[in-house]
Amino acid sequence: MDLLQNTEIRKLAVSDLCEFKMFHVKHFMNYKISDLSFFAYLTRPQYQTFGMFHVKHLIGYVIFQVSSFEADILYIGVHPNYRRQGVATRLLNCKCFTCNIPENGLGQFKIFLEVETENFSALSFYKTQGFEIVSVRKKYLKGKDAYLMCKTI
Ligand SMILES: CC(C)(COP(=O)(O)OP(=O)(O)OC[C@H]1O[C@@H](n2cnc3c(N)ncnc32)[C@H](O)[C@@H]1OP(=O)(O)O)[C@@H](O)C(=O)NCCC(=O)NCCS
Repeated sequence: MDLLQNTEIRKLAVSDLCEFKMFHVKHFMNYKISDLSFFAYLTRPQYQTFGMFHVKHLIGYVIFQVSSFEADILYIGVHPNYRRQGVATRLLNCKCFTCNIPENGLGQFKIFLEVETENFSALSFYKTQGFEIVSVRKKYLKGKDAYLMCKTI
């Protein structure tokens, strides 16, 4: 059975703050986000945060920080019970995000991210999405080495 039937992706709003924060704290404790940042990710224009909902429950989200010709993925996370079913793939490629890119920017719009060199699942995921390693940032994330990765769309 396709567990992703009855799903929708939409931009998260301030009304989602409580669910967004609880979801993150429950499943992604190793990546700390302050209360101020949770709020900023839903309200400040430089951030675009999208969530995927299954029967009205949040099952994954992605936070982009966007400027004119590039974006950074600040975090992407999927509920442990919903992994390996294409949730992160759909979030990363959601039309809500790509339709905001100016047409004349397509083909040169860069998406960057940093990922711990030992986060093998995320690394594998990003490689399947066409991201390439640009450089290694030593002792970057909580003292651990991280890859800077990039993809042009
Ligand atoms: C990384 C993460 C977001 C992937 O989410 P997901 O919804 O399971 O990813 P998808 O189902 O879209 O995966 C697409 C492809 O990526 C690769 N992939 C994803 N997870 C993988 C894993 N654990 N091991 C190896 N390859 C993996 C596979 O090739 C997969 O395709 P397949 O299932 O057909 O083989 C998820 O594992 C997660 O939330 N991890 C914890 C949070 C985290 O580390 N975030 C990244 C911060 S930088």
